[in-house]
Amino acid sequence: MKKETLENKRMEEIISLCKRRGFIFQGSEIYGGLGGVYDYGHYGSLLKNNIRDSWTKNMIDAREDVYELDSAIFMQPTAWIASGHVGNFDDPLIECRRCHNRMRADTVLESFGIVADKMPIDFINSELNKLKAEKKLKCTSCGQTDIADAKKFSLMIKSNFGSPTDELKEENVVYLRPETCGGIYLQYKNTIDSLHPKLPFGIAQVGKAFRNEIAARQFVFRTREFEQMEMQYFISKKDTEEKYNMWKDTRMKWYLENGIPQEKLRWYKHEKLAHYASEAYDVEYNFTCFGGFKEVEGIHARGDWDLSQHSKFSGVDLSYFDEETKERFIPHIVETSVGLGRLVLMFLDYAYTEDELGGEKRVYLKFNPKIAPVKIAVFPLLKNKPILVEKAREVYKNLKNEFGSVMFDDNGNIGKRYRRQDEIGTPYCVTVDFETIEKDGMVTVRDRDTGTQERIKIESLSEYFNKKF
Ligand code: GAP
Repeated sequence: MKKETLENKRMEEIISLCKRRGFIFQGSEIYGGLGGVYDYGHYGSLLKNNIRDSWTKNMIDAREDVYELDSAIFMQPTAWIASGHVGNFDDPLIECRRCHNRMRADTVLESFGIVADKMPIDFINSELNKLKAEKKLKCTSCGQTDIADAKKFSLMIKSNFGSPTDELKEENVVYLRPETCGGIYLQYKNTIDSLHPKLPFGIAQVGKAFRNEIAARQFVFRTREFEQMEMQYFISKKDTEEKYNMWKDTRMKWYLENGIPQEKLRWYKHEKLAHYASEAYDVEYNFTCFGGFKEVEGIHARGDWDLSQHSKFSGVDLSYFDEETKERFIPHIVETSVGLGRLVLMFLDYAYTEDELGGEKRVYLKFNPKIAPVKIAVFPLLKNKPILVEKAREVYKNLKNEFGSVMFDDNGNIGKRYRRQDEIGTPYCVTVDFETIEKDGMVTVRDRDTGTQERIKIESLSEYFNKKF
C-alpha cells in the first residue's frame, strides 16, 4: 500500500474506533458538525482524565516547587495587547478562488520543503508566486491553480460583555484565551504575595484555550477549542540553561514513563526564535496516522518578556526581591506547554494495534495500564446464572474499591466481551465461572496483549494486580 494511503487509512481507523467505542465524537454531529470541535465520550473522557492526572501528579503533586492555578478563560483585553496576541497572533491564509477551500500558506509551503513557519507575509507571498509561476501551487481540495495571495488571519476568537444593545461596541470585546499561560502571568503577583515562594518556583494550570485555526482538519491534533497543560517556571536569569535542561529531561521522562518508547520521540530545535526567547525545543512524536514526526509539546525559555510586558501595560511592579542577594529583578521564565487533545491522539496512535488471535483478526489498544480508561473488566461467564453474577459482582466491587477504574460487563458472549475490552484497551479481564464457585475459588485472568489466561485465587487478585500495575 502507498505510504500516504496507509496513513489516511490509519487515521480513518482511529476516528472510526473512537466513534464506535465512545471515545471521541464530532461536535454538534446531528446538526452536520462544527469544524475543528470535538466532544469526548465516556472512554475518551476517562483516557483524557488519566493523561491529565499523570501530568498533574508529575508536574505538581510530586514536586515542592510548583503551585496550581485555575484562572478564568476571560481576561482583561489589555492583557492580550501586552502579550502581543492582539494584532500579532495570526497565521497566513490562502483561499482557493474556485471552491473557497482555506489553507495555511506556511503548511502548503512546507509541503514543498520551504520553511515558512512564522515568516513575514511578504516572504510567504514571494515564495507562493514562484510556485504559481511554475503551476505547482494547487488547491488541496479541488486541485485547481487559481489561489489568492496570502493574508494575515487572526487566531483570536472574540466575544463580548455588556448588554445586548452594546454588544458590537469595541470596548465590550473580550477574547477567549488562546493559551492558558496568560492567567499565570496575571496571577504571578498574587501567588508571590499569598504563598511567598522563593525562586525558582513554577505555576501550572490545565484549562481550555481557543484558536480560530484556519485548517482544523486533523481530528483532535488541531482543534478550535482545546485543553492545554502549561507550567511557567520563574527563575533568575543566570539559571536559565540549567533549569531549561532540567525541564527538558523531566518532560521527556514523562513520555517514557507513560509507555511511549524513545524511538517514537525526538527533539526539534527551533532556529527562528521570538526576539525575547533564548531557546525553544518541541517534543515531536512519530505519528503513524500522519506518517511522520509532529509537535506534541513546546519547551521555551521566554526571558523576562512576559512579566515585563504585563508590568508595563498594567503599571504594577512585577519585580522580585531576592532576600539573599538583595537584588530586585523581573524573573525569567521557562515554559512547558502541551495540548491534552494532542496527547490523546498520540496515545491512541501508539496504542492502535492489529493482530490475529485464535485465527481471528482483531484490533486492540495497547495502552499502558497507567492511562488505560478501564484497568480491569470483570465478567460472569453467563449472565443468566445468578450464582455467577453474584460472585462476579462481589469480585468487581472489591477490585473497584482498590483500583478505581474497573468495569462490570455481562453483555453478549465472552468472545464479544473480550473484543470490546480489547478495543477500549482494558489490560486485564477477570472471568468468574462454575469452577470458581464449585471447585477452587479461582478466576480466569486474561491478558489483553497476548490473550493468555491464568487461574488466580480471588484472595490473590489484589496482590496480582498491584504487581502488574
Ligand atoms: N504558551 C505557549 C503556547 O501556547 P504553542 O506552541 O502555541 O505554545 C503549545 O502551543 C501546545 O499546545 C502545542 O505543542 C500543542 O500541543 C497545543 N496546541 C496548540 N494549538 C493547538 C490546537 N489548535 N489544537 C490542539 N492543540 C493545540
